[in-house]
Amino acid sequence: MTYGDPGKDMEGGWPSVHFSCFKWGIFLLRNYFGGGVCNCKAKLEGKTVIVTGANTGIGRETALDLAGRGARVILACRNISKADVAAKDIQNKTGNSKVIVKELDLASLRSVRKFAAEINESEERLDILVNNAGIMRCPYGTTEDGFEMQLGVNHLGHFLLTNLLLDKLQKSQPSRIINVSSLAHTRGKICFDDLQSKREYSPGPAYAQSKLANVLFTRELSKKLDSTDITVTAVHPGVVKTELGRHLALSKSYLARFSLAPIVWLVFKTPRQGAQTTIHCAVADCIESGMYYSDCKSKDPAEQAKDDGIAKKLWEISAALVGLERTV
Ligand SMILES: NC(=O)c1ccc[n+]([C@@H]2O[C@H](COP(=O)([O-])OP(=O)(O)OC[C@H]3O[C@@H](n4cnc5c(N)ncnc54)[C@H](OP(=O)(O)O)[C@@H]3O)[C@@H](O)[C@H]2O)c1
Repeated sequence: MTYGDPGKDMEGGWPSVHFSCFKWGIFLLRNYFGGGVCNCKAKLEGKTVIVTGANTGIGRETALDLAGRGARVILACRNISKADVAAKDIQNKTGNSKVIVKELDLASLRSVRKFAAEINESEERLDILVNNAGIMRCPYGTTEDGFEMQLGVNHLGHFLLTNLLLDKLQKSQPSRIINVSSLAHTRGKICFDDLQSKREYSPGPAYAQSKLANVLFTRELSKKLDSTDITVTAVHPGVVKTELGRHLALSKSYLARFSLAPIVWLVFKTPRQGAQTTIHCAVADCIESGMYYSDCKSKDPAEQAKDDGIAKKLWEISAALVGLERTV
């Protein structure tokens, strides 16, 4: 057989070279979109971690990784049966029996207070708090306490939870708080004159507002904890294939899901890839408090996320809304 001999095609010559290049191309693209990886090998034996919304998606992968490092991991979830399945799976995969489930519904301040009281009473320490749970672009709804749902769950619930657990985090220093935000914060604006979207509700802007609140909360809290060894960071996990899009019209159309599946497979991160920046902020050295991370690197957040005046005002209003008389 000589070069250019068409018979070669029949034997898997050029077509197979092309196919190989195609496979490599796909591999490299998937790797590129997969984003940064946390290479830190730190162990967490003797440490206690809480991950909110840990029964699925990014939270579940975060809990799996931290349990693999030996931590006692508390899955703080609203759906106990789903969380029990996740806990069993994490125990089986890591051989770590110290993975437990506790009920937490961030759409209810009563539930947040009950959860925090139980933790403060039963846990000796708290080393890492991962405020991960979230909802995106849901139809208009309110929490038990009358807050717009996305602001209530994504920001106010976690705001109260963190404040109620601060003493425990202070006693366990060096400790860390990770707030899972989103790149969507760059489209966000804190509408102080209509924080609860009562006058006008649009799912996208309400999500962006709640995620901007996560970054502003991180900024203000890290300033307040400046003299401590508690590191507070905000994270963008990337675009990740999870259940977060459950309220999007696209996710309800079988045809759209089917036709977009190859693009989603190529471009979206897996939940494991999506958990890398959270894990990085939880375990790596040289993490800077008050910063915003994406792909395991610190990045510049949007201008409105660096406004100390807005951060302070949001803190004060949030404290009043959740009924916190004393904050740090
Ligand atoms: N996926 C992405 O592309 C992406 C991009 C940027 C940022 N994020 C952020 O990443 C975080 C994790 O999202 P994900 O993608 O892993 O989504 P997910 O698969 O939908 O997981 C969200 C988790 O939050 C929980 N949750 C929702 N409402 C809750 C409530 N009221 N109380 C307690 N838990 C509640 C869910 O519980 P149930 O299972 O009971 O509903 C679930 O465990 C979110 O904060 C999200 O905003 C994700």
